[in-house]
Amino acid sequence: MTQANLGAAALNAASSIPAAASLHVPSYVRHRGLIDWVTRIAALTEPDNIVWCDGSQEEYDRFCEQMVAQGTMKRLNPAKRPNSFLALSDPSDVARVEDRTFICSEKREDAGPTNHWVDPAEMRGTLEGLFRGSMRGRTLYVVPFSMGPLGSPIAHIGVELSDSPYVAVNMRIMTRMGRKVFDVLGEDGEFVPCVHSVGKPLAAGETDVAWPCNPTKYIVHFPETREIWSFGSGYGGNALLGKKCFALRIASTMGRDEGWLAEHMLILGVTSPEGRKYHVAAAFPSACGKTNFAMLIPPKGFNGWRVTTIGDDIAWIKPGKDGRLYAINPEAGYFGVAPGTSEKTNPNALATLGKNVIFTNVALTDDGDVWWEGLTATPPAHLIDWQGQDWTPERAKETGRKAAHPNSRFTAPAAQCPSIDADWENPAGVAIDAFIFGGRRSTTVPLVTEARDWTEGVYMAATMGSETTAAAAGQQGVVRRDPFAMLPFCGFNMSDYFQHWLSLGEKLAASGAKLPKIYCVNWFRKDADGRFVWPGFGENMRVLGWMLSRIEGKGQGVENAFGVTPRYEDLNWEGVSFTPAQFEQVTSMDPKAWREELALHDALFDTLRDRLPKALLGVRAKIEKRLAD
Ligand code: OXD
Ligand code: MN
Repeated sequence: MTQANLGAAALNAASSIPAAASLHVPSYVRHRGLIDWVTRIAALTEPDNIVWCDGSQEEYDRFCEQMVAQGTMKRLNPAKRPNSFLALSDPSDVARVEDRTFICSEKREDAGPTNHWVDPAEMRGTLEGLFRGSMRGRTLYVVPFSMGPLGSPIAHIGVELSDSPYVAVNMRIMTRMGRKVFDVLGEDGEFVPCVHSVGKPLAAGETDVAWPCNPTKYIVHFPETREIWSFGSGYGGNALLGKKCFALRIASTMGRDEGWLAEHMLILGVTSPEGRKYHVAAAFPSACGKTNFAMLIPPKGFNGWRVTTIGDDIAWIKPGKDGRLYAINPEAGYFGVAPGTSEKTNPNALATLGKNVIFTNVALTDDGDVWWEGLTATPPAHLIDWQGQDWTPERAKETGRKAAHPNSRFTAPAAQCPSIDADWENPAGVAIDAFIFGGRRSTTVPLVTEARDWTEGVYMAATMGSETTAAAAGQQGVVRRDPFAMLPFCGFNMSDYFQHWLSLGEKLAASGAKLPKIYCVNWFRKDADGRFVWPGFGENMRVLGWMLSRIEGKGQGVENAFGVTPRYEDLNWEGVSFTPAQFEQVTSMDPKAWREELALHDALFDTLRDRLPKALLGVRAKIEKRLAD
């Protein structure tokens, strides 16, 4: 944002501006605009106290101890899980709230039909009412953070003002947080201002609850002024504002204006036994296995291959001078879904979780450790569940009650991951060779398809559908279109976003650069009995291996209505038993189902018709023609 605008909103409202001295500004903070902004937000929200976070271990430990004393977190058994904690949220505050998430651009059309829009002036009035006095009885934490390695040309800075110590400690794991950020900001550096309140002020003498939040929730973005305001929730993507709000919604608008991409993508490196290394960025909707794919361990038959992890959720991708696309992971930690994570599905994640972790909404074992569905085949005989109640496997069978919430999470430092890539903090990023887009579809969409060109790839990504998961509040398991896995995260009109991808491709191609190949995958096809057919997890390497063989110009495939697909013999099956009949089950394309699928694409395009790029309709017409041939 233009720094002159900083917190424009709040700030007419300030009734009594606190004296700078009472703000306790550390001498190393030299940014006048920042100090004025904190002053005005403090006047609006009226906290009892202000703490400028320095990001030190001592500070982190202190905040954790405070939360243990207050009942927000429980320290886990240090012999089993050193320096780790469990937080149990309010049962009403367990996931992102998409229907309370707003993109308040000046013009409604710029937010587009897939975002909730409210006129910015009206929203500023609403926020002023909500935030006035909202931090009474609480401490305001000033949390300076860098998304991306400090000082990287791809990185950007934010400052979150939050009344939640849980936010402060999670942000220390998820971002580069602390004093060094002020050094990079200097006297007038650019930053994205983020204001967060759990929305539960305390009256004098009132006792706090373990997880304060407010039934009224607002997650608000002002794309033109690059501001974020979040009220009422303490949870994950609603409250850790560097993640979805900044690194995706605001950053995607920065990318649109400046010619780069902010994407809901993992980034991995894959190295062949001969030492050839490729980088792949892959978009999947929330809770569809991005963390597992990013930490994949190659199966039997891939001796000598190595997969290394650069990021598991978000990629910032900028064109380099050589015309290639370079990606960084703007985060420094993983905020991963716990259920389903096990020695079998993701041994690297489990190893990452050995120490220094904050768990949220998983179950507590009798010996002070954690458990979630899928961690072990047999659950412990007794647990305290995520709502603090006694839980036994027998009772669970009767009631269907889960021990861990399906969207329970771990917050863990990326540096602890055994598969971390040597370049994960390279300020220049890594050059991307392929993009993968995948949804959760029990039918219709084949295991893997290669786009014939960039435009067909953009079409595949734009029309992606996926069955909804517990990562967002609302009904689960219904197919919704989730273009580029960005539906909940794009900070501007989705049609303009498609055009941005198309234009970037044209620009790179015009510079003579070789564009990354684009693939569409689906690990989730089911058989008639509702069982997954594809084994997934480490076995996904077989699909990745085919993609790399295509990138190297060696792999074979057949032209289909929808891109190029491998035949059975094009994949390496060494070390697994997966029959041609099973392969047929995960790759077959039923023309009738595809005609229905195209009708769903049409419905999406109809919603987006005002600014929809014509090129996408051209691809759609070709698919229809091929289906008819
Ligand atoms: C996440 C999500 O937390 O996508 O990464 O919901
Ligand atoms: Mn995500």
